Amino acid sequence: MNGWSQTQGFATEPVFYYIKILYFCFPKYNSPKNMHTPCIEISADGSPTLFLPDMDEHYHSINGAIQESQHVYIEAGFNQCLKNTIHVLELGFGTGLNALLTAMEAERRGVQVIYTALEKYPLSDEIVEKLHYFIEKQEWFQKIHSMEWEKAVALTPLFTLQKIRTDFRDFSYSYNCDVVYYDAFAPDKQPEVWSQEIFDNLFKAMSPAGILTTYCAKGHIRRMMQHAGFSVERIPGPPGKREMLRARKSTLL
Ligand SMILES: C[S@@+](CC[C@H](N)C(=O)[O-])C[C@H]1O[C@@H](n2cnc3c(N)ncnc32)[C@H](O)[C@@H]1O
Repeated sequence: MNGWSQTQGFATEPVFYYIKILYFCFPKYNSPKNMHTPCIEISADGSPTLFLPDMDEHYHSINGAIQESQHVYIEAGFNQCLKNTIHVLELGFGTGLNALLTAMEAERRGVQVIYTALEKYPLSDEIVEKLHYFIEKQEWFQKIHSMEWEKAVALTPLFTLQKIRTDFRDFSYSYNCDVVYYDAFAPDKQPEVWSQEIFDNLFKAMSPAGILTTYCAKGHIRRMMQHAGFSVERIPGPPGKREMLRARKSTLL
């Protein structure tokens, strides 16, 4: 039994540690040819993630989906921003796990969050119904997914979410965002969504104290961020990953 299961009320008891368990494959995933049908797998911390067989790619680390999201996006990103109102922009809404964890952290810290999430291939209801992260927050999770797209909707008095159905490459990055979660599929699987143009646009769109985090630690991605103007740190990654990247707009922080 791991810490997450015990302390966070995670819904599924992890029976086989570190062993992939395929539950179901879903035919209704609205996806491009090379992404095809995702399957649910249980990651090493007992939390579920999705796997795309044709692309050979996971939505989260198999070493722990919740642990990765908590480490990379909440601790290394969101919790570094000390404002009372925080604008978050997520590239890759996917399962909605980062949004859910951010709503929970906003509640814990008592800060206001305006969260914008970009996603080109929303999951089908059939998949969402089978994903369970926190028993006590399942209602929030369902609400996050049932919210209308393109509209800002309040999940709680502290957390407002706008899901935007778009390609990362077509989005007009005009928000003044404080924290960016760059959670696209890996650069070797989808190089087109890790471009200099996107990093340049994000740099312009971020507030002066803006922070961008990603699980990716690749040198050519770090150099793209630096070329855009960010000051970039390599910091310890989540379980199973030595490093990750954190980029700041200002070098003075
Ligand atoms: C690593 S997963 C994101 C995981 C997500 N943050 C979560 O917590 O489940 C990458 C996401 O990017 C989406 N995606 C892939 N290509 C895209 C594109 N060109 N534009 C927008 N979204 C894209 C995928 O459908 C997938 O949901």
